[in-house]
Amino acid sequence: MKIPDSQILVIFGASGDLTKRKLLPALYELFIRGLLPRAFKIVCAARTAMSSEEFRRTRIAEMLEMSDATARNSSRLGEFFGLVEYFPFDIGSADGYFLLRDEIHRVRSEASIGDNIVFYMGAPPAVFPAIVDGIRECGLAAVPDGGSRRIVVEKPFGTDLKSARALNEKLRSCFHEDSIFRIDHYLGKETVQNIVVLRFSNGIFEPLWNRNYIDSVAITASETVGVERRGSYYEGAGALRDMVQNHLLTLMAFVSMECPSAFDSASVRNEIVKVLKSLRPMGESDIRRNVFRGQYSGGNVGGKAVCGYRDEPGVEKNSEVETYVAMKFFIDNWRWGGVPFYFYTGKRMSKKLSEIVINFKSAPQMFFAGQCCGRSCNRLVLRIQPDEGVSLKFGLKVPGAGFQSTQVSMDFDYSSLADITLPDAYARLLLDAMRGDSTLFARSDAVEEGWKFIDPIEDYWKNCGSEIPKYPAGSDGTKEGVELSFEHSGASCSLPIKNELTVALPKASNED
Ligand code: BG6
Repeated sequence: MKIPDSQILVIFGASGDLTKRKLLPALYELFIRGLLPRAFKIVCAARTAMSSEEFRRTRIAEMLEMSDATARNSSRLGEFFGLVEYFPFDIGSADGYFLLRDEIHRVRSEASIGDNIVFYMGAPPAVFPAIVDGIRECGLAAVPDGGSRRIVVEKPFGTDLKSARALNEKLRSCFHEDSIFRIDHYLGKETVQNIVVLRFSNGIFEPLWNRNYIDSVAITASETVGVERRGSYYEGAGALRDMVQNHLLTLMAFVSMECPSAFDSASVRNEIVKVLKSLRPMGESDIRRNVFRGQYSGGNVGGKAVCGYRDEPGVEKNSEVETYVAMKFFIDNWRWGGVPFYFYTGKRMSKKLSEIVINFKSAPQMFFAGQCCGRSCNRLVLRIQPDEGVSLKFGLKVPGAGFQSTQVSMDFDYSSLADITLPDAYARLLLDAMRGDSTLFARSDAVEEGWKFIDPIEDYWKNCGSEIPKYPAGSDGTKEGVELSFEHSGASCSLPIKNELTVALPKASNED
């Protein structure tokens, strides 16, 4: 693994939750694994007045409290925080950027760091434009000879096509597109990257990976948590913008794209854009028939009573914002013409599960029909979380008299790979951004294509005048959503699949 060049990472909004929960733990993971640049400093910029010493002390205490993994592996936390400087900074003050520039120069020369800077936008999206202007005006964006300037942007990338275009223009007014890293943390997940490896490194799946053999594809990302402390953000987002426009479309693109001509950033991202451009646009009648929203009401999750969405802090009492989406759509291209794709996502659902299910067509003569789950016995399940792994389901004879068949499963679990802990998604993506590899980051045209698909749905919901359907917290979603899932999973079989046997995989032998 190539270690990034020496550089400074500047985090804006560093006193927020993202820095505390994701960025610092991910950087610590990279530090422990020896993957940070040899000369490296992190400048954490935020409004609160405090010294670097104070910032380090509070963050260490929080990290120990928050993560068992960090607590178990805490011996080098002090050393790691030696790389962290805190800089009190007001995003709205023009002078602040000049002072920040001087601070960066000071830190850089003290630690003999090359002229490479990565800016991380950890601040709320509303202030992104001000930060970009500030960086440009104080001269920090100018790329020096032999140096680099990169910017990492957190979602949401706009709230619709118009605002996404404006944000892209703003970012490109200061940085080259290749230096803009739009983070979708799903792309940092090992199991998501594995979709591409599974598809393009095996001769057995790809020949079947098309409309001739695949009946449908279902992508699920359900969560048991509610909106937690993010009620006011969520009120402006909803599940469609929060999960579908980015994470689910990204998963769909990895599952459905053509094989790139090379495994590099431009080729992979070209294929992603091609497939997004092939999404069949939805008119009002398609949306009415095939896109269902819902909002959780009070209920019970994991044996604990929880409140409804409207009673969450920061949420309007009469909010019509969706916390659940179930939808069916099509990709109009040569490979996928006619194959329905399904998305399911929601908060406060019965279980946490992210997975992709490829349902293969059934055998032409169904002698043993009815015993398997759904329309066919054959499905490939790519489990993203939890219990990361891959399962192939197929029908086999139940031992004994007659010819009764049942669905069985060949399973691979990542946990069976001894000594391998899956790297944190943020750690992987931060490392890639520091190395300048944008393969796993969203390109501006992909973001815009995503919004073109999503905007008509948002518009329809805004204007349809009907009240949002509710589902009880801890359930599987709304009635319409559950009925939609019967189309591909089979009404008789609620997931996880009931009548299944697990076939133990034989141990690999030397003769194989
Ligand atoms: C984030 C969303 O992008 O993804 C959250 O804003 C959501 O609302 C989270 O909870 C889900 O991520 P994961 O990795 O837990 O599936």
